Amino acid sequence: MSDTDSDTASSVGEILEDVSEADTTTFKCLFCDEQWSRVPDMFSHCHKEHDFDVENTIKKLGQDIDELSIIKLINYLRLEAQKGIAPKEIKVDSETLADDKYLHPTLPDDALLFELGDFMPDADSKAIDYDEYEAALQKNVGGNVEKLSLDNDRDTDYFESYKGNAIHREMIEDRVRTEGYRDFIEKNAELFKGKTVLDVGCGTGILSLFCARAGAKRVLAVDNSDIANRARDNIARNGFSDKIEVIQGRIEDFHMQRKIGKEKVDIIISEWMGYGLLFEGMLDSVLRARDLYLKEDGLMVPSHCTMRIAPISDKEWIADASGEKFWKDVYGFDFTSMIPGGILNDREIGVFDVPSKSIGGEASTFYELDLKNIQIRDLDFTASFSSKLGSSSASIDAFAIWFDTFFLPGEKSQDATAIDVAKWGNNGEAGLGFSTGPYSTYTHWHQAVLLLGDEDRKKEVKGGSTLKGKVTYKKPRKDDRGIDVTVEWEAESTQGPVSGSSKRTMGA
Ligand SMILES: C[S@@+](CC[C@H](N)C(=O)[O-])C[C@H]1O[C@@H](n2cnc3c(N)ncnc32)[C@H](O)[C@@H]1O
Ligand SMILES: [Zn+2]
Repeated sequence: MSDTDSDTASSVGEILEDVSEADTTTFKCLFCDEQWSRVPDMFSHCHKEHDFDVENTIKKLGQDIDELSIIKLINYLRLEAQKGIAPKEIKVDSETLADDKYLHPTLPDDALLFELGDFMPDADSKAIDYDEYEAALQKNVGGNVEKLSLDNDRDTDYFESYKGNAIHREMIEDRVRTEGYRDFIEKNAELFKGKTVLDVGCGTGILSLFCARAGAKRVLAVDNSDIANRARDNIARNGFSDKIEVIQGRIEDFHMQRKIGKEKVDIIISEWMGYGLLFEGMLDSVLRARDLYLKEDGLMVPSHCTMRIAPISDKEWIADASGEKFWKDVYGFDFTSMIPGGILNDREIGVFDVPSKSIGGEASTFYELDLKNIQIRDLDFTASFSSKLGSSSASIDAFAIWFDTFFLPGEKSQDATAIDVAKWGNNGEAGLGFSTGPYSTYTHWHQAVLLLGDEDRKKEVKGGSTLKGKVTYKKPRKDDRGIDVTVEWEAESTQGPVSGSSKRTMGA
């Protein structure tokens, strides 16, 4: 391992701190004062603590339920609870919910009203139409709807972190990333000609500009961060103001629906990928945008991502990355008590450029995301993998996880898992996608590294045997932008079977 590697390691540590500052919005339980950040968690709480099955209640309301009815249901349940009625005594039926008075939020700035998607019984259900909501509200409540202030200051820190120059420069300078998008757009300009594009999280406007230059008729560039102002300037300076409209706001907000308009778009483009693919939780917003704004036969750019894992067997690299080597001898003193606080430790997911020589077995694809069809609930998952280990017996020190991104439009669509990105050499295949793995050119995503516990790192596995395992991704309960990753594995040693399990987290 070279000095540059350790430099990279520490600078990555800093980036991580920046990004992980995201705060989490919480909303109140439908029936008590407890705060929640995830709807499914609140559902189980309601079931357990209040003997009220929200999902079943919605199911009973029938297949045709739309998001307007969900708004009414939330407001109605809150009102009834305020009256002191026990949850299981509350009568819910379509007749009651026909009354538009329940459109009016019971709680001011009720964050739960931003989570309607999680209440809908299936993905094909009707997403809310702002005009409809506004009209219904105006009829009933009168006055200015804006006054209801459904906007709130959620995720302030997260969006603050995207306001400055440095983070955008880092992303643009990642050529594997930026040229990956550009090459796809330019090589497939015919897909963009005359089309409407929604750029979810436009940042500086770079992807919107690529699309407009390739011939898109209209591009809606949405970003909630103040970087939107810079995007507007960049677009004007380059003469694209007539084609690209910058809108500042959260893509999932009600007001956004009025600003974007009723017409659905042909293409959604977004660069939403985070460390370990799902850190930052931005994909949730992109999927929400897809359900609200993408035409049925519309295109998602990128279209697929695959997640890969491989064991790391390299004591020396680990000693460097974990700081063990550094702290062992500090001007002749033993400072090894400092090691557990380092950027590679047995609690957190580390972010590193793992040298390919440190990979101790074949990379295995454990999950594929088809962005056109995947649901938010599929982002918490358990998936299996297997890896043929290198020829000599050694211990496993850690696992590296990375992702590959694909642009596979319509008829070109193929099984993304069948594409062996390791064979792409350094730069992938122009226009098809890019890898963020240890065999490819460095990217600002690096790889996510899960260090095994001390005991597990002592277990020797047989050369040439196959390691089998499971990876679990789960959002931590109180941190929607974080991830908990657990890797369980089993393999053969000369003394018989060995196994291990490590849970590591990345979050605020
Ligand atoms: C990874 S950056 C990509 C920026 C730009 N598209 C590029 O490729 O350089 C993601 C951007 O999405 C924005 N963003 C994330 N979630 C959003 C949401 N729910 N609504 C609007 N903007 C969002 C962030 O503020 C950030 O600027
Ligand atoms: Zn409760």
